[in-house]
Amino acid sequence: MGILSLLSLSVVLLNFLSPSETGPTPRVSFSLGSPGRFLTRFSSPDVSNTTTLLLSEDGDVLYVGSRDAVLALDVSHQDAITLKGKLDWSPSEKDLEQCSMKGKKMSDCPNFIRVLQFLNSSHIYACGTFAFSPRCTYINSETLTMSLKPDEGRGRCPYDPYQRNTAIIVDGELYTGTVADYRGNRPVISRHLSEGRRVDLKLDDTLGWLEDPTFISSTVVPDEEKIYFFFSEVGREYDFIDKFIVSRVSQICMSDIGGQRTLQKRWTTFAKAQLLCQADNELPYNVIQDIDTLLPAEGAPADDTLFYGIFTSQWSVNSGRSAICSFRLSDIKSVFSGNYKVLNRDTLQWSTRVQEKVANPGECGLHNASDNALRFVKENFLADDSVRPVGRTLTMVSPEHRYSHLSVQRVQAANHRDYTVLFLLTESGYLHKAVLLQSGAHIIEEVQVFEQLQPVKSLKLSIPQGVIYVGTSEGVVRIPTSNCSVYWTCPQCILARDPFCGWEPNSRVCVEVKSTKIPLVQDVDRGNVEEACSSVSLTHRSRFSSTKLSAGELVSVSLNEVVRLQCPPSSRLSQQQWERPNSRLSPDLYLHLEDGSLSFVATPTTLGHYLCLSTENSFQQTMAIYHVKQKSSNPPPSSHPITQAGGRLGPRLLTSEGPQRTESEPVPEAEQAEPTQSSKNPQTPTSEAKDSPRWTEESGPRGSEFGKERPLMWSRGPCYLKELVVVSVLLVLCISLLITVLLYVFRQRCRSRTTIQAGTPPRDSGSPVEQEALRGHCGSKRNGKALHSGQGGMVCNGALTGSNGHLPNTPI
Ligand SMILES: *[C@@H]1O[C@H](CO)[C@@H](O)[C@H](O)[C@H]1NC(C)=O
Ligand SMILES: *[C@@H]1O[C@H](CO)[C@@H](O)[C@H](O)[C@H]1NC(C)=O
Ligand SMILES: *[C@@H]1O[C@H](CO)[C@@H](O)[C@H](O)[C@H]1NC(C)=O
Ligand SMILES: *[C@@H]1O[C@H](CO)[C@@H](O)[C@H](O)[C@H]1NC(C)=O
Repeated sequence: MGILSLLSLSVVLLNFLSPSETGPTPRVSFSLGSPGRFLTRFSSPDVSNTTTLLLSEDGDVLYVGSRDAVLALDVSHQDAITLKGKLDWSPSEKDLEQCSMKGKKMSDCPNFIRVLQFLNSSHIYACGTFAFSPRCTYINSETLTMSLKPDEGRGRCPYDPYQRNTAIIVDGELYTGTVADYRGNRPVISRHLSEGRRVDLKLDDTLGWLEDPTFISSTVVPDEEKIYFFFSEVGREYDFIDKFIVSRVSQICMSDIGGQRTLQKRWTTFAKAQLLCQADNELPYNVIQDIDTLLPAEGAPADDTLFYGIFTSQWSVNSGRSAICSFRLSDIKSVFSGNYKVLNRDTLQWSTRVQEKVANPGECGLHNASDNALRFVKENFLADDSVRPVGRTLTMVSPEHRYSHLSVQRVQAANHRDYTVLFLLTESGYLHKAVLLQSGAHIIEEVQVFEQLQPVKSLKLSIPQGVIYVGTSEGVVRIPTSNCSVYWTCPQCILARDPFCGWEPNSRVCVEVKSTKIPLVQDVDRGNVEEACSSVSLTHRSRFSSTKLSAGELVSVSLNEVVRLQCPPSSRLSQQQWERPNSRLSPDLYLHLEDGSLSFVATPTTLGHYLCLSTENSFQQTMAIYHVKQKSSNPPPSSHPITQAGGRLGPRLLTSEGPQRTESEPVPEAEQAEPTQSSKNPQTPTSEAKDSPRWTEESGPRGSEFGKERPLMWSRGPCYLKELVVVSVLLVLCISLLITVLLYVFRQRCRSRTTIQAGTPPRDSGSPVEQEALRGHCGSKRNGKALHSGQGGMVCNGALTGSNGHLPNTPI
């Protein structure tokens, strides 16, 4: 009985971990310091906790809000970021003393700049937490001097540096979402710096218009004359789940000036709705992390404005994953113009309003409305419908990455079509660049931005400059949005499917699309190399033409030696495959290891040529050719007769080092003496490599196409740790089960002997289910310990399951 449930449990576990759960993999990876991605850093010992980034209109100056300072950085130079000016703005000794007397940690008492916005052409408006007593100030953007006495910052900036807030200045007025008290439990969305007939406005905080929100972002849609706020909060309408978090979009009208009697100095146009990032029949990704606006293409209506957001889940089932959803402005508008929920004050239950509509909540221009109408909008602020994502589906799901920040850009490709490109920062410090295609998201590349986990981050995309700024705890990093020159060949340039990059057939380089008027070759949608690169002659089909047979790296072996041939992947999305001329690689003789290498025992039949092919997106290219030959003289077998060809390649790809092992590098004596060329790198463009069959266009001065791919790094392979753990757990379960059953049987037999019962059936070792369970798993050995002692490996269905990529020492 227990076995059945165990089995079903294991089935569930295995389903849960099934590889269909993997999301898009970054095609190539640039580790920190890789030459393919030149990162420019600005850091200074007295600059820390970078929180806010503000880019000047011409993109030449980056203003940075950090701890106790506002900096102006000169970012107009390609190769360096320099400090242009610095404004120190820190609390006095007395302020700090008071802060720590209130029981706050000294490290949280500095002035953390949390609002940094252009007020007008000459001034910046900035607010900071200022020792748990927020302040705001006007800063001259040229001279970086404070021009007026600091303002009070209550309602404009949080007290606590760990609370999130959002702020935007439109037409000289500051719109903010933050908490407005020391304790942090009075959240408000408010307007400040209003002049004349326009008064400062805020939310009526007695009404529960907000429920413990975390503010994420705010944006203005000029055509609508509305400001939209994005945040997450407790979804009180879902009272059946404890503390269910929902993501929200809320709106207010810029024209709002509050009511005349009802809702005086309060918003008359506030409304909020749920943003639902959820696929059918799945738990929602309910916690919004970041959101960015994609303005409509030129000539398209404002209704086509899209908002791309990162969402994570509050439930542990989906922990560590994140989803991207996009929402259309027209959908948000139609939800706000629909029905609203109403709160029953007695039962505290939300329900869809059934009474007659007295006014349209969320409508602009209600300030002259009747008290009756304003009372109605005061109570009806939660839209009944939820805003669903575009296409009612998730744009992208990443099971293994938690994204924290994103930026979105529309990129015009070589075919003049627009593609949406997302820049996604992972919590572990990688920037992913993904292009959204009909077939789903394709992650073109990932760039490592920092090594240590960075608690405070901000992301700023500068489209005209083609760079992204990341604010980390220690400073600012600038990353170019693309570097097409890392793709040396037409196939690589096409397979990247990067809308920024196209192949220039005349000069045979991969170049930025926007940098040239020459028609370029590109296929973002399909990445079809055969079509796109067809103008260049391809001769890779003559793989084993007899004249070329001498080509390839020579591998000298003794008979009965275990040979291991390496094959470098051309990208993380490629699949390696081995071939021999006129011969099939029988699984009885050859072991395909997980890293793509091939292992076999040298026998007269296995001597000869081997070719490693890499297939990506149904395009095949030759990655390595080996010629395995018997050594002429047969020296006595060494203690570990394993020949590894191209063995140095693995570690080379794992590190970000440049060219490897030049001729002058010392080579161990023993290795030199041996005729085995085991250390030779098949990627090194040697004369043999040049002769080997491949794209002829590459036999130009650039040399081999493989040899020039060094900037592309594949530092992290797939991780099977989870699977390993589950399999081990199952194994242990099986074994203990087996032992239990054996003990049980043994005892039964003992008992049957002592009690002398004629009717006992002979040696029934359990129910059919139990037997099935024993057979179905790998516990083939009677003695459970034998499996752990590592002898002979595990045998499952007759195949070796040395999945760690190591060859068992015993010959096969
Ligand atoms: C682009 O890649 C090339 C080739 O690896 C490298 O030399 C160059 O510095 C890179 N440029 C940038 C801006 O990263
Ligand atoms: C400031 O940075 C330090 C170091 O990275 C970090 O430990 C601290 O939590 C940060 N403080 C705030 C308020 O973010
Ligand atoms: C910008 O605003 C500041 C502060 O209100 C003011 O002193 C300054 O004159 C304004 N500048 C312009 C160009 O309007
Ligand atoms: C609101 O009403 C006042 C007087 O009742 C009028 O002067 C004003 O023009 C009205 N405003 C709008 C925007 O309709």
